[in-house]
Amino acid sequence: MSKDWIDALINAMPTGLRVLRDEQTIQRESRDETEDLHFPPDVVVEPTTTTEVAALMQWASAHCIPVTAAGARTGLSGGALAVQGGIALSMRRMDSILEVDERNLQVRVQPGVIVERLQDAVAKKGLFYAVDPASRGSCSIGGNIAENSGGPRAVKYGVTKDWVLNLKVVLADGSVIQTGANTLKNSTGYNLTQLMVGSEGTLGVITEATLKLLPLPAFKALLLVPFASAEQACEAVSAIFQAGVQPSALEFMERSAIELTQTFTGDFSLKMDDGVQAHLLIEVDAFRSEDLMPQLESILPVLESCGAGNPLFADDSAAQERLWFLRRRVGEAVKASSVYKEEDTVVPRAKLPDLLHAVKAIGEQFGFESVCYGHAGDGNLHVNILKGNLSEQAWQEELPKAIRMLFESVVTMGGTLSGEHGIGWVQKPYMDIAFSPRHLELMRGIKLVFDPQGILNPQKILPSE
Ligand code: LAC
Ligand code: ZN
Repeated sequence: MSKDWIDALINAMPTGLRVLRDEQTIQRESRDETEDLHFPPDVVVEPTTTTEVAALMQWASAHCIPVTAAGARTGLSGGALAVQGGIALSMRRMDSILEVDERNLQVRVQPGVIVERLQDAVAKKGLFYAVDPASRGSCSIGGNIAENSGGPRAVKYGVTKDWVLNLKVVLADGSVIQTGANTLKNSTGYNLTQLMVGSEGTLGVITEATLKLLPLPAFKALLLVPFASAEQACEAVSAIFQAGVQPSALEFMERSAIELTQTFTGDFSLKMDDGVQAHLLIEVDAFRSEDLMPQLESILPVLESCGAGNPLFADDSAAQERLWFLRRRVGEAVKASSVYKEEDTVVPRAKLPDLLHAVKAIGEQFGFESVCYGHAGDGNLHVNILKGNLSEQAWQEELPKAIRMLFESVVTMGGTLSGEHGIGWVQKPYMDIAFSPRHLELMRGIKLVFDPQGILNPQKILPSE
């Protein structure tokens, strides 16, 4: 296809709007963190204002050119990749924290703000942005909203959707809407705010978000708890909640997840006994230090009755940081260890042992190894399937069948395909497992209302018909 349209785009855009087509930028925008996917866009646009995004969308819809918005490209389902080429709309320069409203406990941000920067900025004022993805140091708030990201603290505080009050969105034709209001309650019409959250840039481009904050729970205690079997660790998870405790994180890691991370980071300070097969990482938080111990006192007998080994207490912040550092690096460590595929399975919490069992049984049937870890308290298990010694043919032809079987059992358990990584490009062939044809038709109808020409992040979420 002739690329004359790029010259036309450059001429039509407002002065100051950065339009880039050098090889380095194209390559940068051609990847995210999903496997080894590579989809170079034709051109990259880096706006700094909503008006610029609106001008771009108006032009793109007039010329029917695909636009794929991207944040920091840390996504794990290929959601931000321009699979059909066209324009990659990088939101990285729209990275201002516009207003911290301390009286209403709200913050207004542009989408390119890195999540950790937001957390740190509000923490200086004694406030707390609760969502805390493992990639907080590199992921952006716009990407988090687009994928409805979660992370370890979701078990107590919920996922991104629970913190978004209102969005400014540029629609496919360049018009601009506010999806809601900056109020805690809102029962006014259809909830377009929540429709936009998790829609992966397929319905509009988010250019501003108003988010809820909390007072900062400054005190934390962290336990790393060993188990002789992974199933036992999973069994303990619902028992902890049934005992009436609400941890601020409850993570699961198989032994192999920790071993790979130790090799990847070179940090072997954590010693694991030979018999240990899995760990739970359990955090509690509080506004007052004296409120930590009672929570731990409720958890410890539960752990004991579930057959846990001796917990490691990380009571000072340096020790806590070391354990969280290890946990946050697991994803990268697995990625560095082998060709892999990652499934973001989620089931009702008490089904976690069944889910783990299903993963291992399917692995045995198809001959693959898996490394499992994730947000056990949410029933959200990241299943990393390693290519290992599998033949290329088995990987290409047999593995999709295994993944289908896994998702089928997840859905039978009352779960679904993705807890927090989205559907994007890689999981869409499996959408028919979670949704009936009628349900998919409704989703296609919604897409058509917002994006009649199909220019917004084409070929994502919805399977080809
Ligand atoms: C994590 C990412 C992969 O939990 O979601 O580490
Ligand atoms: Zn995760």
